Amino acid sequence: MRETVIGIIGCGVISEAYLKGAGRSDLLRVKAVADLRMEAAQARAAEYGCAALSVDDLLADPEIEIVLNLTVPVAHAPVDLRILAAGKHIYSEKPLVARFAEAREVLQAATARGLRVGCAPDTFLGAGHQACRRAVDEGRIGQVIGGAACVASRGMERWHPNPEFFFKPGGGPVLDLGPYYITQLVNLLGPVSRVAAEATRGYPTRTVGSGPLSGSSIEVEVQTTVNGTLLFASGANLSITTSWDTWKTRRPPIEIYGTGGSLQNPDPNFFGGEPMLTREDGEWEPLPIGAHPFGINNRVTRLGKEVADYRIIGLLDMAAALQTGRPHRASAEMALHVLEVLDALERSAAEGRHIHVESRCERPEALPTGTGEEVFR
Ligand SMILES: NC(=O)c1ccc[n+]([C@@H]2O[C@H](COP(=O)([O-])OP(=O)(O)OC[C@H]3O[C@@H](n4cnc5c(N)ncnc54)[C@H](O)[C@@H]3O)[C@@H](O)[C@H]2O)c1
Repeated sequence: MRETVIGIIGCGVISEAYLKGAGRSDLLRVKAVADLRMEAAQARAAEYGCAALSVDDLLADPEIEIVLNLTVPVAHAPVDLRILAAGKHIYSEKPLVARFAEAREVLQAATARGLRVGCAPDTFLGAGHQACRRAVDEGRIGQVIGGAACVASRGMERWHPNPEFFFKPGGGPVLDLGPYYITQLVNLLGPVSRVAAEATRGYPTRTVGSGPLSGSSIEVEVQTTVNGTLLFASGANLSITTSWDTWKTRRPPIEIYGTGGSLQNPDPNFFGGEPMLTREDGEWEPLPIGAHPFGINNRVTRLGKEVADYRIIGLLDMAAALQTGRPHRASAEMALHVLEVLDALERSAAEGRHIHVESRCERPEALPTGTGEEVFR
């Protein structure tokens, strides 16, 4: 498999994780980075040994095959359209775009030019989540009937140096964290057909808690506690809570209830974790992860927790898929469906009614077992 040359647009907080991840892989080389703030691009370029260019110059480089879009959500669609116009494939951070209505224009432009779009999250490729997928596929908990997902914290303004976008359209806990949960649920159970939700805005303003903007106020324009229900095309229904108004919770990230038992899926914000399974009313037991790759802890979070962070493997998979012609797993089709579900949760709460989800997607191919990136070769 030959090396794929990529460029990155957006040199903020998350670019560091991708630059580190690319540095650990033989499959990718980051040739250049760009940002509206040239000083941000120069700082990343100096640290990771690549070029800092303007967005136009990066897009004009014929060697760059895939552009990683790490801009803020409202910039995803306009930057995507420029990447496609330059004839390059896109891999985007989530959400695919800030507003569902923008998604079709981007995907139609990609199809018209024969270019691919991939989208985070790629955490569903992590060991814990793939082990859960295998357990569901093997019928270890029988037919899935119900379940519950929950992601609840006090929000992002306490640690992120520039957190305004989290509280503006395109942000909020549904669009910001929902992609991890809905993507893994689609990976396990297939597409969603209908949603309903209620929403509350816990605080009208937020105060930035770190960095040069510390103490400044952000007007909150999104709902920050949203409780919904998801009816899957399979007939299963699950509840989902997303909240940035919650100091503490002990609710598990994802539980799935089937005719033959229950499954606890670890936090899909990360790649590892320890899945647990019960058969009927037996004891909870660890579900062996076996030879699934991308689960070993390799990072300590700012809260001191050890986690498995392999953010970039969705892009590695797409780079490999481009070379062999197979579909990539973190696909535009799945990201579009996930975004429609998230949009439907927000619309349902705003309009006080059920929302039917029109798009469908195939579940991505399960990842082969192995020890690392050779699973993509
Ligand atoms: N911060 C995280 O922990 C995290 C985790 C997962 C995913 N993400 C996602 O990654 C994306 C970026 O998040 P972040 O936290 O790095 O944000 P950030 O604000 O730290 O960085 C975004 C960067 O994009 C640049 N930018 C904005 N518009 C641009 C444009 N039109 N052209 C070029 N550059 C532009 C900004 O100048 C900034 O440097 C978001 O979609 C977010 O949802 C963030």
